[in-house]
Amino acid sequence: MTFAPSLHQWFLANQRDLPWRHTRDPYRIWLSEIMLQQTRVTAVIPYYERFLARFPDFPSLAAAPESDLLAAWAGLGYYSRARNLQRAAQQMLALGRFPSTYDEIRALPGVGDYTAGAVSSIAFGLPHIGIDGNILRVIARYTADSGDISQKPTRLRISAFAESHLPADSPGIYQQALMELGATICTPQSPKCLLCPLASSCAARRDGLTTQLPIKLTNKTTIEETRHLLWFSHNDALLLLQHPPTSPRLAGFWDLPDSSLFPRLPLGPPQAQFSHSIVNHKYELLIHTPRLPRRRLPQLHWIPFSRFPELPLSTITKKAIARMQ
Ligand code: ADE
Repeated sequence: MTFAPSLHQWFLANQRDLPWRHTRDPYRIWLSEIMLQQTRVTAVIPYYERFLARFPDFPSLAAAPESDLLAAWAGLGYYSRARNLQRAAQQMLALGRFPSTYDEIRALPGVGDYTAGAVSSIAFGLPHIGIDGNILRVIARYTADSGDISQKPTRLRISAFAESHLPADSPGIYQQALMELGATICTPQSPKCLLCPLASSCAARRDGLTTQLPIKLTNKTTIEETRHLLWFSHNDALLLLQHPPTSPRLAGFWDLPDSSLFPRLPLGPPQAQFSHSIVNHKYELLIHTPRLPRRRLPQLHWIPFSRFPELPLSTITKKAIARMQ
């Protein structure tokens, strides 16, 4: 059997049981693809189910108060995804339906080439494919492509290969089978070639290059930064600030103040410490319990601990609260 039929047969017998594989509802499929853009499958599942219980369709999402939306998303990170999701839902409401062509889907906020291809193929059976990191790896190995997958020409070559094998009658299965093979068999480390339906025609396997491919040349450096968080608590309430709606980061979220708000305040020794990584930043966070300064800052508010479950708290603040309890 050739490339696509082998994948198809393997996928039907071996796919994982994932919640978004039980639906043809484009809203649900779109939501899963947005959540999966930067978050792993196992982390997404509980968020996906809770989010759909709260916002079962695009009209309910379009009408959601921002604080509910952020609270449902809190912990998934990359919050622009949640805001774009709501803007897209509002566009759907204006249109009166979920968009159903590739170009309409690609035009939604938060939807790039990958997501447009995946939603078009999986939800609508349109002849498109979205190329994600898993698919780049599978095809770079299958074709023994030694180009740098962070470079456009390599990506174009891999897209062209994927499109040339796209089966007109089952684009959605083809899309999911390629991703599934990358996620479960053709993994970055220790690929399970003995279980792979493509092994007999895989060029990387033939040439002994499996673990060398794909090539990805990056010069990504991590920026390390120490931040001093201020823990002012009084009568079962904590002093927190809310990032303004226009803030480039964490707009609408509640956060602990940090030492930059009170530059001359003696901090005292840290009471707890933890780290938090996001994109290319690695933060080392120290929690201090200084005396409350006399000067009151208008952006700080006493928030009772009992209100925390309903508020969008930043992940750093959630971690700090867990450390201090
Ligand atoms: N990663 C991105 N999209 C996915 C999907 N539909 N199923 C599993 N993993 C994925």
